[in-house]
Amino acid sequence: MASARGEFSSRFGFIMAAAGSAVGLGNIWGFPTQAASNGGAAFLLVYLLLAFILAYPVLMAEIIIGRHAHANAVGALQQIARGPFTRRAGALTGRVGLVVASFILSFYAIVAGWMIAHCLSSLASLAGAAEVAEWLTSFSFGRNASFVVVFMLLTIGIIAEGVHDGIERWSSRLMPMLLVTLGSLVLYVLTLDGAMEGLAVYLLPDFSAALSPQLIINALGSAFFSLSLGVGTMLIYGSYLNDQENLPLLGGLVTGLDISIAVLAGFLVLPAMYVALHNGVEIFNSAGELISEDTLIFLVLPELFTSMGLAGAFLSALFFFLMSIAALTSSISMLEVPVAYAIEEHGSSRRSAVVLIGGVITGLSLLILLNFEALFGLVITATTRYGQPLLGFVFCIYAGWIWRRDALLAELRKGSPEIAGTLFWRIWPWHVRLVCPLLILGIFAQNLLG
Ligand code: PHE
Repeated sequence: MASARGEFSSRFGFIMAAAGSAVGLGNIWGFPTQAASNGGAAFLLVYLLLAFILAYPVLMAEIIIGRHAHANAVGALQQIARGPFTRRAGALTGRVGLVVASFILSFYAIVAGWMIAHCLSSLASLAGAAEVAEWLTSFSFGRNASFVVVFMLLTIGIIAEGVHDGIERWSSRLMPMLLVTLGSLVLYVLTLDGAMEGLAVYLLPDFSAALSPQLIINALGSAFFSLSLGVGTMLIYGSYLNDQENLPLLGGLVTGLDISIAVLAGFLVLPAMYVALHNGVEIFNSAGELISEDTLIFLVLPELFTSMGLAGAFLSALFFFLMSIAALTSSISMLEVPVAYAIEEHGSSRRSAVVLIGGVITGLSLLILLNFEALFGLVITATTRYGQPLLGFVFCIYAGWIWRRDALLAELRKGSPEIAGTLFWRIWPWHVRLVCPLLILGIFAQNLLG
């Protein structure tokens, strides 16, 4: 039955797909700049700690529920429910998750569109088409809308091909490309004047900045966003895994890759900022603070690239190409959530579900663009600060309290019978039952209060 609904054909394919979902704008855009303004290596330590004590266990909860049910979140939470109330609540949670995933995609497609446009703009400058290059970086509705459509068409095209031919094949091609591009950019930027100063800011810990309560909450939120938790993405990818796979190992590898790429991106973005400073580009505001994240990517880095002439235009094309790939392997995982639901719960064909849902989400993105000031920030806050943590909380409750304990343990043992003697086996079930929900409630309360 599982293979009729699609299945990853190899362990490598799953790791590339799940790490592809996790590694995105959050890693390459969000993490390095947050580290830069919040105590460098001290922020990194807090982030690492939270990723392992909170994000990894919740990731495991999603993958295990998905693999057990071989179904989308709505079907899966109903399968592990114990009575009419938890069945209905499970179905509702799954549906809210797919709506949140769709809204995340609607703002993500806008930002990803900017990345593609910046990449093409650099290529246009290299080709000497200055006017085209300028239009491509202008903040016009025409430019923004065109690239939302381009990006959504790419996402729709991949998801229309299904789990194996679409998600797995493209993630397995794009993720190695991302690693090579990121690695080469890091090596090159580290050779430039000023880079070592950035490296020092990144690697010398300033604990006074990193231990403030607000910062811990932020690091927690970004760890959650970064591992694509709460909205059913990891659950649906887990549902395409066969019963022979060792889940704690796979989840650990995905978490490790996600964190490593965020850390590696820090070795690019922070040195690049100080190279820019060295070249006369302003990176601090009038109060002496580091300028904001969005200004950094769209202003400082392009200015740095421009100041470097021809080599700069080439580097810039490469950098925004990297961002576009990272965004695409994440956006396909977001679109798969509502698409899998439509196929499994409403009997749609994959193609019609993809076109219809992809079309609606593109419409949402255009709506946000038309009311940018009012909607863009609102959608980001509602989905990532509130939606994801709250949904993650419910997943922990289902994995920890509602699902029958013996069924959960049997699922874990399936691909790895030897797991029963391990530390993971002894700690994780209790951890996801008690520590994770309390921690998430803590973030949520703090978000509401602050
Ligand atoms: N993890 C992705 C990133 O870091 C974002 C994402 C969120 C993807 C939710 C899927 C679901 O950019």
